Amino acid sequence: MNMASVGILLLFFIVIRAQTEGKSFVKVECKTGNVGQYGQQSMLDCVVTTAEEVKDPKILTVTWKKKGSEDNLLFFHRGETKVQPGYRFAESSWNDKNMNISLLITNTTMVNNGDYTCLVMTDSGDDEETVTSLGVTAKYNKPTIRSIPVNITGREDVTLICSSVGGYPEGKLRWFDEHNTEWPASSKMEAELTNDGLFKLSSKLSLLKNSIFSKYTCVVFNSSRGKEDEVTLEIPDTAASEGQGGEKGSDQISKIVAPVVVIGSLIVGLLLALLIHRRRSQRHHREVPTCELDAEQGGHVETYKERGDGTV
Ligand SMILES: *[C@@H]1O[C@H](CO)[C@@H](O)[C@H](O)[C@H]1NC(C)=O
Ligand SMILES: *[C@@H]1O[C@H](CO)[C@@H](O)[C@H](O)[C@H]1NC(C)=O
Repeated sequence: MNMASVGILLLFFIVIRAQTEGKSFVKVECKTGNVGQYGQQSMLDCVVTTAEEVKDPKILTVTWKKKGSEDNLLFFHRGETKVQPGYRFAESSWNDKNMNISLLITNTTMVNNGDYTCLVMTDSGDDEETVTSLGVTAKYNKPTIRSIPVNITGREDVTLICSSVGGYPEGKLRWFDEHNTEWPASSKMEAELTNDGLFKLSSKLSLLKNSIFSKYTCVVFNSSRGKEDEVTLEIPDTAASEGQGGEKGSDQISKIVAPVVVIGSLIVGLLLALLIHRRRSQRHHREVPTCELDAEQGGHVETYKERGDGTV
């Protein structure tokens, strides 16, 4: 070995040492607050950044894991990528020169909610494990209302039950009447976690038979109080009251009786008026006969004549 080759070897050594100790040369930076929608794609957005001195970096390994699990979701090594179903690089034609190592989750479910770790090694050095998280939300479905009893007659008290499924995190149900006035639920709203990790909300509203409005709306709000959906139940006219507490039965009777009374008294009144008029005109005939004669018509004149004959 001559001096020159020793020199070259030494130089190699220095370069390699610089590379292996060059942790600060390479860094994985992830977007904070990655969010995912249930049933849709979501991404853990991360890039590898290198110091300016590093020219043309090449990625040797990428390891994506869910915290709490030993299984790799994605593992790139020696030019080969192994993934679990439903996971892949976000960059569609990713290669080891591409510093965007974002992980794409093709169909997000509640299982994907949580923390992830990412480990990257490059030919210019490695970074420590980086942690990033995904917050999964799910939109509540349109609520449904059922009533107990099923048929609302207005003759008995009713309980309305509203429910909405498929949401995350826990939301709220609220009741409104036709005037948009809020009604307090008659018991605490129930939030139940279903097998798919989503919430089922249900809320009860009790109605008294004499104060049932014509419409009830149940609105579902998400965890940040945003309105998500609603459903309206229309109460049949025959069952809805005016909110006065009036009794339907006697109402019905007075509806029939009232016109009878009015028409009856009208007839009686008319008959009376006719009778009085007749009496009056008869008296008038007697008192001012000449006047009446000029003004009145044949029939009356005749009456007058009869009477006139008798009295005069
Ligand atoms: C990484 O790639 C994905 C998919 O192309 C893109 O949506 C994302 O914005 C990229 N991230 C960065 C930090 O460039
Ligand atoms: C709640 O709903 C609002 C309005 O629809 C929406 O902007 C917001 O992102 C939702 N929040 C969650 C946690 O779903």
